[in-house]
Amino acid sequence: MPAIRPGSKGGVISGWGTALPEKVLTNHELAEMMDTSDEWIVTRTGIHERRIGGSTIGLSVESGRQALEMAGLDPLRVDGLVLATTTPDKQWGNAAAVQNELGMRCGAFDVNAACSGFMYGLITGHGLIAMGADRVLVIGTDTLSRIMDWDDRGTAPLFADGSGAVVIESVDGPGQLLGWDLDADGSLLSILQAEVGGFIRMEGKEVFRRAVRIMVDSAEKSMAHAGITADDVAMIVPHQANIRIIDAACERLGIPMERAAVVLDRTGNTSSASIPLALADALDNGRIANGDLVLLVGFGGGMTAASCVLRWGGGLDD
Ligand code: ACO
Repeated sequence: MPAIRPGSKGGVISGWGTALPEKVLTNHELAEMMDTSDEWIVTRTGIHERRIGGSTIGLSVESGRQALEMAGLDPLRVDGLVLATTTPDKQWGNAAAVQNELGMRCGAFDVNAACSGFMYGLITGHGLIAMGADRVLVIGTDTLSRIMDWDDRGTAPLFADGSGAVVIESVDGPGQLLGWDLDADGSLLSILQAEVGGFIRMEGKEVFRRAVRIMVDSAEKSMAHAGITADDVAMIVPHQANIRIIDAACERLGIPMERAAVVLDRTGNTSSASIPLALADALDNGRIANGDLVLLVGFGGGMTAASCVLRWGGGLDD
């Protein structure tokens, strides 16, 4: 795996933001719509409620604006915008629409790597910094309620809508990113997919089995690249698909669940938004301190997987 070139700049996350639709859909409400129960959903997934509504562009503008405000950045000073989404409002130009609404004038492009999308975007953002950009906005947003079959109790309780964003700024020195991994196994595309204009179709048990393996594999590659072990990880921020997947992956990695960031009980699986939502929650609750090693790991349809190790802080404020 190529390391960032010696002498090139490193990146540090200097701001973050989140956006969730106002409408809360509880398991009890779902049980009135289909043959399911709160008890089944909580036991099998850990999800209690989720947010439904909004557009991908609208939620992205909201989370992106918050991230820019926290970073104290004039939008005109941003050099690049990466929008990860698997549920675009438009066939193309979603990132460009967000760029325009936020008053930015920079390169802007959409990334689709399913639930690994934000991680692909974050690593790409760091790559742009290494190549000379100074400020990059990375947003992960999905509005999965629009592509869910509300008659399919096997998928409808799982997926939901939301958005999370981070600003990466360049620093002199290596920055935050210590190790990363991008992975995909296209032979597994059929176990979780949606045709253009169609609904999500999933072989739940097979996704579960593969997800744990592909997550652990990617996380181990990132830790090896960073030269750290699971004992060094202060916080793991995993894709928020199912609490049992997170639990199984943490167990195999040897990271106690107390060190995992979890929001899926409130958000469900928001795909590209899930990792930035969980990261922001951990940061807002003071669970990550400067100097902490943070392992972010996602997996999703494709199947894709992606992970990275960040050393929090890393030169901007300390
Ligand atoms: N309510 C009540 N019963 C249900 C429901 C429901 N919502 N859904 C399924 N059942 C029933 C099934 O029909 C089955 O009944 P049967 O035994 O009479 O046939 C029984 O519950 C068990 O079903 P399983 O599918 O075996 O349940 P399982 O324990 O595997 O849990 C689940 C299903 C939650 C979907 C699990 O397989 C899972 O989480 N898989 C991974 C899903 C995932 O994470 N997807 C996204 C990953 S990537 C991305 O984020 C895009």
